[in-house]
Amino acid sequence: MEKVVALCKRRGFIFPAGEIYGGVAGLYDYGPYGVQLKRNLRDLWWRHMVELRDDVVGLESTIVMHPQTWVASGHVDNFVDPLRQCEGTCKKRWRADQVEGERCPQCGGPLGATRQFNLMFKTHLGPVADDSSVAYLRPETAQGMFVDFKSVLNSMRVRVPFGIAQQGRAFRNEITPGNFIFRLREFELMEVEFFVKPGDDDRWFEYWRTERMRWYVEELGIAAGRLRFHDHPPESLSHYSKQTTDIEYLFPFGWGELEGIADRTDFDLKTHQEHSGQDLSYLDPETNERYLPWVIEPAVGADRILITTLLDAYDEDQVKGETRVVLRLHRNTAPVQVAVMPLSKKEELIGPAREVLAQLRPHFRVEYDQTGGNIGKRYRRQDEIGTPFCVTIDFETGTDHSVTIRERDSMEQVRVPLAELVDTLRARF
Ligand code: GAP
Repeated sequence: MEKVVALCKRRGFIFPAGEIYGGVAGLYDYGPYGVQLKRNLRDLWWRHMVELRDDVVGLESTIVMHPQTWVASGHVDNFVDPLRQCEGTCKKRWRADQVEGERCPQCGGPLGATRQFNLMFKTHLGPVADDSSVAYLRPETAQGMFVDFKSVLNSMRVRVPFGIAQQGRAFRNEITPGNFIFRLREFELMEVEFFVKPGDDDRWFEYWRTERMRWYVEELGIAAGRLRFHDHPPESLSHYSKQTTDIEYLFPFGWGELEGIADRTDFDLKTHQEHSGQDLSYLDPETNERYLPWVIEPAVGADRILITTLLDAYDEDQVKGETRVVLRLHRNTAPVQVAVMPLSKKEELIGPAREVLAQLRPHFRVEYDQTGGNIGKRYRRQDEIGTPFCVTIDFETGTDHSVTIRERDSMEQVRVPLAELVDTLRARF
């Protein structure tokens, strides 16, 4: 983990937020390569969860939702973690379920009694900050799909079973954020609420478990041996869940949740129907039955996928007696797909290199590097950011109209005619 954190900072993936002021626990900024990688991961998720399916539609709801939403959803009462504070010298706050005994793990002082701490960030709507104006930053995007359920139903030609997908910021005032971007206070959620007929939930729960595991292995290229299912025992289920399975990844600190798949029953639609007084039922056009659909929810944080991807891709090998750091990122998600470099800064190479860049740009995410100096060093830099291919323009290019493609993982180099460059690279993506 330390190596990946250092690489993220050194190579412009992720920086601690507000670092010049000393940083803030649980808040991180994405640098140029990080933001591109995150965007690619989000796009890949959206492509498979929405665009390539005909039973899921998209939604973007607000971050500050109607305050009543969180009363109805149970978050005001139940979205809490047990907290114990050190009453000794350090005054540190701990999650009660993460400390053993009666003593502070840091300074050995006595721990105070357990109290419930609500994880939602509070704010106020309008200029008067009193109890009547309290609002919350959403801790999940899911509620947007429930409160807009009827609007989607009435405006789209959707039929159960169907899903509503959303990506967007979520906020949780975690007591103990940590493990880099694993547990954040502000993060990006990607969720589908998949509405099914009551009684069909077990079948769809099974479907989404399988599909999501397949996605990680086949589409993202995560090592199958580092992934597993973890079924929640009944006593640890959320207040809305009949059954929940986590897809876990073997992080450096042990197995941890990557994604949760939950059977939310009709809890949410039912509670919003009760609190709003609006009919949220679905009329089945074939059977004329009216019912509240049940919901299967695959939910994952984009940041959580990103750290998994980086850890899974990080590798070191030996090249000519030196350690090479290489991110073996999936070719389709790497922030830079092809780096174009003239062998030297000489004018006779820069012109053709720029032409190659223009030729490739419409097809791939490209980066141009003419910093000069040692080509080996420039390859190493691209290896560290996970660039699958480098294309080098050298002194032969002017006469043989060819360039060298160097592959990241094997470091193999092949000579390719310029006229075939785009097709040759395309075939590899
Ligand atoms: N709507 C259901 C829900 O939000 P969750 O298990 O609390 O369920 C879903 O969160 C996913 O969001 C997790 O599996 C994880 O990928 C991500 N996630 C949750 N809390 C997070 C945090 N504090 N920082 C980063 N990602 C988080």
